[in-house]
Amino acid sequence: MNKLFRKNTFEVENNNNEILSKTLTVKDLVFFGIAAIVGASIFSTIGSAVSSGGPAVVYLFIFTAITCGFSALCYAQLASAIPISGSSYTYTYIIFGELAAWIIGWDLFMEYAVSNVAVAIAWSGYFLHFLRGFGVDLLIDFQFFNSNFHIDYPAAGITILVTYICYIGIQESKKFNNILVVIKLLVILIIICIGVFYINPANWHPFAPNGVSGVLVSISSVFFAYIGFDAISTTAEECKNPQKDIPKAMIWSLVISTIIYTLLTLTITGMVNYTKLNVPDPLAFVFDYVGLHFFAGCVSFISIITLSSVILVYQLGQPRIWFAMSRDGLLPKKFSMIHPIYKTPSFATIITGFAVAIPALFFNINDIIDLTSIGTLFAFALVCSGVIYLEITKKELPSKFKITYISSKIGLPIIAVIFFLIYNFSDFNFDLNTKNIIFCILTLFISIYSIYKNLSLLPVLGLIFNIALLCQMGTTNWIRFLIWLALGLFVYFFYSQKNSKLNV
Ligand code: ALA
Repeated sequence: MNKLFRKNTFEVENNNNEILSKTLTVKDLVFFGIAAIVGASIFSTIGSAVSSGGPAVVYLFIFTAITCGFSALCYAQLASAIPISGSSYTYTYIIFGELAAWIIGWDLFMEYAVSNVAVAIAWSGYFLHFLRGFGVDLLIDFQFFNSNFHIDYPAAGITILVTYICYIGIQESKKFNNILVVIKLLVILIIICIGVFYINPANWHPFAPNGVSGVLVSISSVFFAYIGFDAISTTAEECKNPQKDIPKAMIWSLVISTIIYTLLTLTITGMVNYTKLNVPDPLAFVFDYVGLHFFAGCVSFISIITLSSVILVYQLGQPRIWFAMSRDGLLPKKFSMIHPIYKTPSFATIITGFAVAIPALFFNINDIIDLTSIGTLFAFALVCSGVIYLEITKKELPSKFKITYISSKIGLPIIAVIFFLIYNFSDFNFDLNTKNIIFCILTLFISIYSIYKNLSLLPVLGLIFNIALLCQMGTTNWIRFLIWLALGLFVYFFYSQKNSKLNV
């Protein structure tokens, strides 16, 4: 039993801290963050999100940004205290012990590898659209149990190409990444600046055509849009000054992405009525719609390039988590093998390539996004709990960044009143279904405990908001996620526990 809760220490990790080359600055990290955050969602799935929720999806973007902001603060505090590879996996190992760490490390596969499947599919959507402009169709359709499937080999192809770039080294990847991010930001700026002249304010009426429930349908894809700021923390061992730079980079990249999402959502829903936006390439579609066909082609082309930068970040992040897990003995040694010349986790990088490229051939983007979102929310909830746990147990980690203390005793009642007023003055219908009942019970328990202990408000809000989003996830999604976790426990008890470095 003790084995399940045995904890790793910062010193143990730190002994191995000189292996990876330290080249990343705060600017690189912000670029890295934006590369990870602004991707498939805003280029692709925003179309289906606004088609059900209308322009009001912009509120969901803001609410989700606030939720992620709380989690980002918790990540930043822990990353600053524990500046080593592995992100939430490593934090959990040090704070909660081995079993929780294993669960989170296993779960992070959802956030990194699985989300990259979605990004690769989105990339392929723009790529195929672009080629169709020249009369070329690359998709191979086939029938399976009376359903139509297609083999998306462009998605697999881009994954393999990016994996190769990751394999040859962080220095090369960094340069490639920074260029792609600049192109991405420029194209978004141009889309907004040109699009603004084609906005017809009538398209914003009604602003929330299907009410709050119409907006909430898109919770997975909107949350998916923010996934990525935490990827910054996976590069901790490759940063020049991780303790200061990681917190700054996380907050900056989150703020910049929120501004981008808000403006882009308003622009495209102002240009074209929301009912017409359920397309895989909405940013190109809106310009086709207003007659700017050449510009639409340019947007498609640049999207192909920029979505590659998103794939890059996740292809870099996943091997580094496996690297940390393998270094702790929870995964086979090969996963922490460093390439003698390129200084990258070479084996883990290749396996990530296969793990993304193969599902990208067959899977549906929405299923992938649901799975990624639930897995990531779970990781965020654990990181917020970690910060709360440290406060409860009065365990001090040497952090150069600390979340400002606001008393829960004062903050929580005020927030409860604000939500009560919003509820009363909106058309929000709160169904008393099982998930909402679970949410109410958990929130009540957490709130009473936090007020009683007078805990720091922001991590507590992070936890509650993450639970709120988790409770909105569909039942099928929950079942898939739990099956994945059960599989992880099986591997843990049959391999990882026996091989853990903490056994010696
Ligand atoms: N936030 C990333 C994207 O939207 C995962 O592609």
